Amino acid sequence: MVSPENKLPTDAGLMEKIVSLCKRRGIAWQGSEIYGGIGAVWHFGPLGVEMRRAVRELWWQKFVLQRRDVVGIEGAVLMHPKVWEASGHLESFTDPLVECKKCHMRYREDHMSSGRFIGGEAKEKNQCPECGGKDFTSPQDFNLMFKTFVGPVEDKANTTYLRPETAQSMFTDFKLALESSRQKVPFGIAQIGKSFRNEITTGDFFFRAREFEIMELEYFVAPGKDEEWFEKWLNEWEKFYLDLGLDKEKLRRYEHPKKSLSHYSKRTVDIEYKFPFGWSELGGVANRTDYDLKQHEKFSGKDLGYFDEATGKKFVPYVIEPTMGVERVILPLLVDGYHESDGSDGREKGEVVLRLDPRIAPIQVGVFPLVKKDKLPAIAQEISDTLRAASIRAFYDEGGSIGRRYRRQDEIGTPWCVTVDFDSLKDKKVTVRDRDSLKQKRVNISDLKTYFQDLLF
Ligand code: GAP
Repeated sequence: MVSPENKLPTDAGLMEKIVSLCKRRGIAWQGSEIYGGIGAVWHFGPLGVEMRRAVRELWWQKFVLQRRDVVGIEGAVLMHPKVWEASGHLESFTDPLVECKKCHMRYREDHMSSGRFIGGEAKEKNQCPECGGKDFTSPQDFNLMFKTFVGPVEDKANTTYLRPETAQSMFTDFKLALESSRQKVPFGIAQIGKSFRNEITTGDFFFRAREFEIMELEYFVAPGKDEEWFEKWLNEWEKFYLDLGLDKEKLRRYEHPKKSLSHYSKRTVDIEYKFPFGWSELGGVANRTDYDLKQHEKFSGKDLGYFDEATGKKFVPYVIEPTMGVERVILPLLVDGYHESDGSDGREKGEVVLRLDPRIAPIQVGVFPLVKKDKLPAIAQEISDTLRAASIRAFYDEGGSIGRRYRRQDEIGTPWCVTVDFDSLKDKKVTVRDRDSLKQKRVNISDLKTYFQDLLF
């Protein structure tokens, strides 16, 4: 959802630099690139994949493993077609589509009227960014779900959809998860998984993809307790972004007006980030009431009520749903972390440093021999292997001058670099350089593992 005040790009060049860095250094690139690419589908390279894994892991630690009241599941991408009827997605998971009468390009009507494209080719709101035309067809509802068939027969009875959200399996499996884990309401089910939406408007790198990954929770509460839990989860959600170091000034809450709420929601608040292309949603919290469970009761004929032993009453729980996309954690971190030196911080003017949280940095420690001589490479390799064995993402590099190696690591956000020099042969110490302060200190080789573990875990 794009909030109405989405404004002119604040720094159009910044996104281009980030896109280029991501491709060059193996963070992300367009899917099926050798065939000219496929629209709004992204692949994550050797560094990007480590970032994704780190984001998922951190999220899971925080919202599942560290809580007594949340359990996880992994549902399937394909579900029974009735699920999408019951959930209302078949009928209501639509965006308003308009077509430019001149060049026939298609857009989301709300994006056109909010000025989403200003800063591209379009000069004004409601102007086609492709040809400048101002005459559009009237909006048509376009369902965003990808259709497919289960089995060899391609007919209506075998039609289903790739899930557009992970939520539904947490509703259909509510009872199974509750009873098998012996939880009691209030409790939550969490899931991380791929979701698919045939988005009309794309662009802005992997911000709006057709295949992406959601990390979300359905938190089941007694009716009447929903508003209180909504506030708690909204605070937790915001804290997650702040803990990762995102600039507080670039985060805000956006309360959806009643008329733009999803069909299932009583209240939704998005957490938005000020991207170079405007304020846009990172994640959010919705109060889904008892809508989904009641719909699944109706369509499946199964009882999804909960018997509260404490009160002796039975009810269909209300659901608070905090949700966020994996890609929408990574992109703001890249934007926020990207710095070009003005030459006053000990770096040369124009040198790039990506100030990523060390827990998310794709490489956590770069390990270098000062030169490829004597035993320096072997010692550095051994250090790198020891760190890797301790689940620290270490990378050995012996190519180029030491300054060049530092710059390569700064550009991808490596928080620390270790250099093995000739003194190391005598004192069994190495130099550890900090990415942000550029301070260097000597650390015993035998202490390195615990030194970094203390900083990271
Ligand atoms: N179950 C609720 C739900 O799916 P949503 O706001 O439509 O809510 C959840 O999507 C999250 O998924 C969003 O907050 C956003 O972070 C992410 N997301 C949604 N559409 C996306 C897209 N096309 N590309 C990347 N991430 C997306």
